[in-house]
Amino acid sequence: MITLKSSREIELMKQAGKVVAKVFETCGAIIKPGVSTFEINELAEKVITENGCTGPCKGYYEYPAMTCVSVNNVLIHGIPSKKIILREGDIVSLDVVANYKGYCADATRTFEVGICKDSVKQLVRVTRESFFEGIKYFKEGNHVGDISHAIEAYVNKFGYSVTRDATGHGIGSSMHEDPAVPCYGKEGTGPSIKVGMALAIEPMVLEGKYQTRILPDGWTTVSKDGKLTCHYENTVVLTEEGLKIITLTEEESKELKQYV
Ligand code: CO
Repeated sequence: MITLKSSREIELMKQAGKVVAKVFETCGAIIKPGVSTFEINELAEKVITENGCTGPCKGYYEYPAMTCVSVNNVLIHGIPSKKIILREGDIVSLDVVANYKGYCADATRTFEVGICKDSVKQLVRVTRESFFEGIKYFKEGNHVGDISHAIEAYVNKFGYSVTRDATGHGIGSSMHEDPAVPCYGKEGTGPSIKVGMALAIEPMVLEGKYQTRILPDGWTTVSKDGKLTCHYENTVVLTEEGLKIITLTEEESKELKQYV
């Protein structure tokens, strides 16, 4: 069931979104060669809890941490570990969900560690851009499949692929609600978009083929071909005034004023 959010609910989700953004600002500042994914998660947890939020990921189907920290060939659900140390040229995605007074926001950023090759930078850029291609279609009267299609079409232009093994999702009082928002699809298919909808739209992009596999820990999802992967996500809400992105950092908000 798709639930439409009231303005009161959207206000609470915005508070959660501000905390998610604060995690990116705080953790972004420590991401450099030598830092472990465990340390990044510890800092994220501190920001989430010190700002009056809980982290719904911890304990979700026994997932052991507040965030997912996924390096290079790990597409999603990387479990933070003291043994996973960032190196120059890596990319690392940080997927964060915060719950503020019963309402959630979910977002992901992929950070470059030190200096990355141009091909790596392009993957990061295209993944982010595909989100913005997708949200062009987040309008009343359109269908969820229009968003999915736009993401896939943009990503494919660069010879990359999108995952078929995970999707974006509705979000609100639960971190995962209907509808599913795949990274691929056909125009005009899927649920109709309505004012009050809140979605976590999250392109999950593979540099090579789309196939993934899950490591024996039951979570870590890697590209089957071992190539790089990338992830970008925001929580977006369709209001009477248009589309709002509620998980932008201060800096991002300045560049994306029309979505704030
Ligand atoms: Co999500």
